[in-house]
Amino acid sequence: MKTTLSVIKADVGSIAGHIKPSEALVESVKDCIERELGKLITDYYVSSTGDDVAILFSHTHGEGCEELHKLAWDAFICGTEKAKEQGLYGAGQDLLADAFSGNVKGLGPAVAEMEIEERKAEPFVLFTADKTDPGAYNLPLYLGFADPMHCSGLVLSPKISQGFKFVILDVEHTEADRIIELHTPEEAYDIAALLRDNERFVVSAVYSRATGQQAVAASTTRLHNIAGAYVGKDDPVMLVRCQGDFPATGEILSPYSIGHYVAGFMRGSHTGPLMPAKLGCTISFFDGPPVVSAAGFCIHNGKLTEPVDCFDHPYWDHIREKVSRKAFEIREQGFSGPAMLHYSELEYGGIVETMKRLESKFSC
Ligand code: 13P
Ligand code: 13P
Ligand code: MG
Ligand code: MG
Repeated sequence: MKTTLSVIKADVGSIAGHIKPSEALVESVKDCIERELGKLITDYYVSSTGDDVAILFSHTHGEGCEELHKLAWDAFICGTEKAKEQGLYGAGQDLLADAFSGNVKGLGPAVAEMEIEERKAEPFVLFTADKTDPGAYNLPLYLGFADPMHCSGLVLSPKISQGFKFVILDVEHTEADRIIELHTPEEAYDIAALLRDNERFVVSAVYSRATGQQAVAASTTRLHNIAGAYVGKDDPVMLVRCQGDFPATGEILSPYSIGHYVAGFMRGSHTGPLMPAKLGCTISFFDGPPVVSAAGFCIHNGKLTEPVDCFDHPYWDHIREKVSRKAFEIREQGFSGPAMLHYSELEYGGIVETMKRLESKFSC
């Protein structure tokens, strides 16, 4: 029997600004889901990263299951009610529709799902990020699956060296999914040519060429493309299967050593380095820096182990120091040049008004 892993996340309110949801909010989401344990769902895990709540479900109903999406939506509504009751900031922030209709995709929450045939041992990692957008995973996925500097399996393992298929989505094309499939190693440079543009091209899935098995499912929601205005950052989630015919867990984690600069940070309008953070991390400096956390699991007959915090190790303390330095350095130049996102990406309407007002004052 096949198992489906679905992760659905939303920001439905947080304490002290865009920092962290309250324990009561997270509990209310859990309570709502718990009722379906052993019925609609086989297992679940609820976590927070910055101000976002992610729900990982294991079930047997395949991708895009309406009842499952409705359960997630209802749980986020419960969370929103708790947020209102406690006077939390941004109650219901990511729930952009008034009512649920069929699938949470396009309604605000981020979704990543994959239906798998469980291997004898099925290790995988759930990545959750805050204060950034889906393109934040582009570079780590490219390096983890296509570069032997990070994925030594490309040199050492005959199955992994056959390469991977990358499914890449053009997120600016909002009318329908516009996708391209490219293969490593022969199309690695074409993949790089697309993935350099994190705001437009986003990896949505990766498959092993040796077995055809899916390794990665990532969320691709760009909230400002849905809402047409600033409504918070997308804060993407991702599932990555590891070991065997896929890269080792440590190879998948390796690229997060870079702390590469991504879009997000204060008001969703600045560039900041992506910090690998511990599970349940908070947000702080300049509403950031952008963070990613990684919960490692094994799953068997749909039952999840407890999570292992993949970034809770002394090595990552050293990386967090480096990333803090990178955050400090780019913040020193404030609003100037690459420190703030390109005009087309600016999340606040205010600057658009300012530019219009100034336009009429120009003379030549
Ligand atoms: P073990 O020998 O500990 O299973 O590790 C194998 C491996 O590939 C680690 O990257
Ligand atoms: P979130 O998208 O995480 O809610 O953050 C929004 C923001 O504006 C932070 O400054
Ligand atoms: Mg928020
Ligand atoms: Mg957030």
